[in-house]
Amino acid sequence: MEEIAFHQPVLLRETVEQLVVRPGGVYLDATVGEGGHAGAVLRASAPNGVVLGIDWDPRSLAYTRQRLAEHGERFIGIQGNYADMVELSRSVGIDQVNGILLDLGFSSRQVEGEGYGFSFQKDEPLDMRYDPVGQFLTAAQIVNNYSEEQLARVFFEYGEEPRARVIARHIVQRRPINTTRELADLVSRIVRPRRSQRIHPATRVFQALRIAVNNELSNVQAGLEAAIQLLVTGGRLVVISYHSLEDRLVKNRLAREAATCVCPPELPVCVCQHQATVRLVQRRIIRPGAEEVAQNPRGRSARMRVAERL
Ligand SMILES: C[S@@+](CC[C@H](N)C(=O)[O-])C[C@H]1O[C@@H](n2cnc3c(N)ncnc32)[C@H](O)[C@@H]1O
Repeated sequence: MEEIAFHQPVLLRETVEQLVVRPGGVYLDATVGEGGHAGAVLRASAPNGVVLGIDWDPRSLAYTRQRLAEHGERFIGIQGNYADMVELSRSVGIDQVNGILLDLGFSSRQVEGEGYGFSFQKDEPLDMRYDPVGQFLTAAQIVNNYSEEQLARVFFEYGEEPRARVIARHIVQRRPINTTRELADLVSRIVRPRRSQRIHPATRVFQALRIAVNNELSNVQAGLEAAIQLLVTGGRLVVISYHSLEDRLVKNRLAREAATCVCPPELPVCVCQHQATVRLVQRRIIRPGAEEVAQNPRGRSARMRVAERL
C-alpha cells in the first residue's frame, strides 16, 4: 500500500459530543473512511461499545480494519453503500443503533491516493468510482458518451458551474478525453479564475462528475431515510457535508422529518397528519473554529447538522 497520511477527521470533538457516545452503546459510522471518527467513538464508548463502520471504498476499509484492529470485535467493518445501511447492519445482526455519523464525500487519502481519478492535480484515468469492482459507470464514460446537453446538465446541476454549456461544447469537440489532466487543462482554458477566487477552475466540473458517477445525491437521500429507520428513540444522527448541494438536501430532509405538518402552505387546515420522526438538536449549523481550519483546511467548508430520533 502507498504511504499517504491518514485523513484528518473534521469536527471530531463535536461529533463525539453530538452523538452522545456512551460505554456500551452501538454506533454506526456510515462513511467510516480511514476511521478517524470511528476510532474516537470506540475510545469514548469503551470498554464495551460497538462501532459498525461502512464504506463503499474497499481500499479505505482495508486501511481502517488494520488501523482499528486494536479494538478487536468492538469494530465491525462492512464494505457497501450507506444507502443500504439497514440491510448491511442486519447482515451482522444489528437492528438498531444509538447514533449514526454520515461524514459525506471523499477523504483526503482518496484525493491524494493513486487510481481514484478524483484530483485535477494528478494525471491519471478519469475513474472516480468509490468501488472499482461493484460500480460500472466511470467519469471517462460520462465525459466521452453523454450528449452535450446531458453534460451541461451534469455540470450545472451537480457542480453549479455557470459556464456549464460552454464547457460541455468544448468537451464534445475535443473528445475522447481520458485523463484528469486533459480534462483539467481543457476546463482551465475556458474558465479563467477570478482574482478573488481561491478554487481551481476545474473544481466544479470535477465535483459534478464525482456526484454523477457515484449517484451521490440519491445516496444521501436514501441514507438519511435509512438512518432514521435504524436509530433507537433518542438516538442521534450527525451529518457533516462539504458543499451547498449536499447541505441543502440534508437541511430540507431533516426539516421535513422534524415537521408536524407538511401540507402545502395554501391549505387553511392540516390534512396530512404527518408525524415528526426527529427533533432538530441544533437550530444553527455547527462549523469548525478558526483553529481547526488553520490546521485542517478541509474543515473550511464543513457544516454539521444534528437530529435526534423521536
Ligand atoms: C469524508 S470521508 C470519511 C472520513 C472518515 N470520517 C474518517 O475520519 O476517516 C467520506 C467517506 O465516505 C465514503 N463514501 C462515499 N459515498 C459512500 C456511500 N454511498 N456509501 C458508503 N461510503 C461512502 C468514501 O469512500 C469516504 O471514505
